[in-house]
Amino acid sequence: MSDTDEIKSRINIVDFIGKRVTLKKTGRNYKGLCPFHNEKTPSFIVSPERQTFHCFGCGKGGDILAFVMDYDHVDFVEALEEMAEITGVKLTRRAGDTPEAKLKQKIYEVNHLASEYYQYILTKHKLGEKARDYLKHRGVSDKSIKTFALGYSPNSWDAASSYLKKKGYDEKLLETAGFTIRGNRGFYDRFRGRVMFTLKDHRGNVVGFSGRVLESTVKEAKYINTSETPVYIKGNVLYGLDVTKSAIQKENEAIVMEGELDCISSFQAGIGNVVAIKGSALTEGHVNLIRRYTEKLLFALDSDMAGDAAARRGIEIADRAGLDMRVVTLPSGKDPDDAVRENAAAVKKAIKNAIPIYDYFIASAVKRFDAATAFGKKKISEELLPIVAKIENPIVQGHYLKKVAGTLDASEEAVVESMRRLTKGDGFGIKKAEKPEEATTRSQKLETYVLALALQGKTAELFEELSERIALSDVANPAVQKILEQLQSFLDANNVFLIKDFADALPVELVSTLDEAFLWDIGDQLTDEELFAREWVSALRELERAVVKRKIQVLTRDPDHTDQLRALTDRLKALEKEG
Ligand code: CTP
Ligand code: MN
Repeated sequence: MSDTDEIKSRINIVDFIGKRVTLKKTGRNYKGLCPFHNEKTPSFIVSPERQTFHCFGCGKGGDILAFVMDYDHVDFVEALEEMAEITGVKLTRRAGDTPEAKLKQKIYEVNHLASEYYQYILTKHKLGEKARDYLKHRGVSDKSIKTFALGYSPNSWDAASSYLKKKGYDEKLLETAGFTIRGNRGFYDRFRGRVMFTLKDHRGNVVGFSGRVLESTVKEAKYINTSETPVYIKGNVLYGLDVTKSAIQKENEAIVMEGELDCISSFQAGIGNVVAIKGSALTEGHVNLIRRYTEKLLFALDSDMAGDAAARRGIEIADRAGLDMRVVTLPSGKDPDDAVRENAAAVKKAIKNAIPIYDYFIASAVKRFDAATAFGKKKISEELLPIVAKIENPIVQGHYLKKVAGTLDASEEAVVESMRRLTKGDGFGIKKAEKPEEATTRSQKLETYVLALALQGKTAELFEELSERIALSDVANPAVQKILEQLQSFLDANNVFLIKDFADALPVELVSTLDEAFLWDIGDQLTDEELFAREWVSALRELERAVVKRKIQVLTRDPDHTDQLRALTDRLKALEKEG
């Protein structure tokens, strides 16, 4: 048995999910409110027989590991490890066996060593003297230097790489890990004469470095960072998280700042629940990391986010993930590092007084444009309405529509109408088209429904009735068609129909459609035989009607089949008369 199967055999998905989502029995399955999207009526179904879940609202589904991946925002390997621990399964194949995993491991190793090297130069070596003075001058304590693993890279073309080579890491690896750059005369060190910030992931692996010049007069960039490597993807790292995650969890709130020194100064001043996005915009990777620890996000950034498209995208991502976002107002022209060192108490107060992000957007627009003039109103609505249009929760959206209307001194209807016009083509349109139930046509959905009834009811009998009435080749949804063909041969070969055996025999690419049908919530119809029979007859009739209609459409284009066409039209009439 594979590790995955072993884990699944030891834990029941209904019990596991039931601890996280309130589930109610419905027919052969359980249902509840989907934990992956906002909904008021339950469309999230869990099947004990299939040991799978499926949400008919957002389309998420799969086995217990898929659930853990989505629920805990972890990758497959992490989910496997988590479940192995819970179930007491000893994993036979560790994650670190592949060549990619081995390379990553090697890079973590050399990064870790380099971090210690830079720390040593900064704290112990004569070459680090100027940098020590610099950090002291900026108010960074020795304790912070240690906590955040700060260092210094000597101002040399090869000091760091020579050291690392001596320790057994070759040229190729140093380049791959981002320490060296290939120039005309061979490799040279990327980081020279800079204060080094060790970048770690939330588990404490060293993924890369950021280096700051000591004197801002030089023509070089103030900060340089490790290039993207197999372990360093800029949008996936939140600076400081390895140190601050427990504070974030405890405060149940994460304060997002721009830079490393904003983080360090705040941490020193007793504001521990901080992370830095390093001057970039908030990404999906950041949001998923933060969500592991809290649902509350505070922005304490230097720049005005309202005017910045990249920042707005990040906010959309976080909103869709259901995060509660607020904005901290700092004294103008100051970043958190400046502000905290000037008056930490004032910053703490500003954090307490953070305002909801959409109020911040409105305030910012009103500050920049004159709401009393027609032109100002146009500018304000053009900036705010696309943002409001993307608010996921309809109640929150309604609240802000009212507020925008008030700000513009316009009616709510007028505001809703201009929001519709402004967002035509994006926002609403796309969101709708993406929903699975809208993408599939009505008749394909009907086919899945018929399959659902057949699988959940007395399958052998129902299948016989179905195949008497409709040729499997006339089924329009290719996945449903293939499943029905498989079902035919399965029923020919087996005396009893067990969903588990059938699923095991099915090609993997059909399993999600099978689950969609088997987990379809048909509720009371299963316990009430009469009700079920009625539903079955009318579903079959509707399905046949759709098939006949399709055939008529095809034949109308072809004058040679008038007889056949007439027969079909008669059949359609008969079906229509039936109900
Ligand atoms: N940054 C970067 N590359 C640059 C400039 C900035 O990666 N060339 C990142 C750094 O993480 C920096 C953050 O963006 O901390 C914010 O930039 P900025 O506000 O210019 O710097 P500060 O954080 O204020 O840094 P300092 O106080 O040291 O000047
Ligand atoms: Mn600064």
